Amino acid sequence: MNTAPPHALPAETAVTHVEIEPSVLYFGTPVVLLSTENQDGSFNLAPISSAWALGQTVVLGLGREGQSAYNLGSRPDLVINLPAPAQWPAVERLAPLTGRNPVPASKHEGCRFEADKFAAAGLTAEPSHRVRPPRVAGCPIQLEARAERVLPDVSGEFVIVETVVRTVHADSRIVVPGTDHIDPAVWSPLIYNFRHYFGLGPELGHSYRTQTPRGPRESALDGTASR
Ligand SMILES: Cc1cc2nc3c(=O)[nH]c(=O)nc-3n(C[C@H](O)[C@H](O)[C@H](O)COP(=O)(O)O)c2cc1C
Repeated sequence: MNTAPPHALPAETAVTHVEIEPSVLYFGTPVVLLSTENQDGSFNLAPISSAWALGQTVVLGLGREGQSAYNLGSRPDLVINLPAPAQWPAVERLAPLTGRNPVPASKHEGCRFEADKFAAAGLTAEPSHRVRPPRVAGCPIQLEARAERVLPDVSGEFVIVETVVRTVHADSRIVVPGTDHIDPAVWSPLIYNFRHYFGLGPELGHSYRTQTPRGPRESALDGTASR
């Protein structure tokens, strides 16, 4: 079995591309766990990989009939929790669950209703500071946010949610001491790569715009050597 990471592909002089029709286009984006408020005041938790940041805005793509989309349409508070790579089993325990009851026909086969997703995943809730849904205690980055716009996508199957982040909580071990910088040599998102979970590989370089103070630090979160 070839276990070499993708960036280790040899530099071919004549690369051949083939046309394919993959069933999904999940080309490797971070997993977030969304906590949202249900109609009865309880809280839902759902793994999402369609999430990206633009300034203080985080844009989410959600299945139209899922409980998370339903909640954000009426109760805009949420927390965008970013798990570490080692937390992937908890994320995967949430994968077949929905907070929607009855389960919509559009959900994949095997999907079942779960009222207490925190317990089902083995995750602990901790109170937020400015929004009603709780944070996920073990997640190194937690973004308290508010959904400001919920719009249908072109297919009609999803909604695009624009959320504005109000408060950022970071595990102190991933913060460069005395600064507001996340240390990218210590923090790794959990990456959903064509339905397989990965962490980051070694650093390849950095943007000319980086402002992160540099210094050798060990990875505090997953026990691996310095990245
Ligand atoms: C790693 C991972 C990433 C996912 N990404 C998304 C996503 O970006 N958008 C989405 O709607 N569903 C995504 N899902 C599926 C939802 O988690 C699933 O539909 C779940 O039932 C939603 O829960 P809810 O109905 O309680 O909101 C993902 C699932 C996993 C395991």
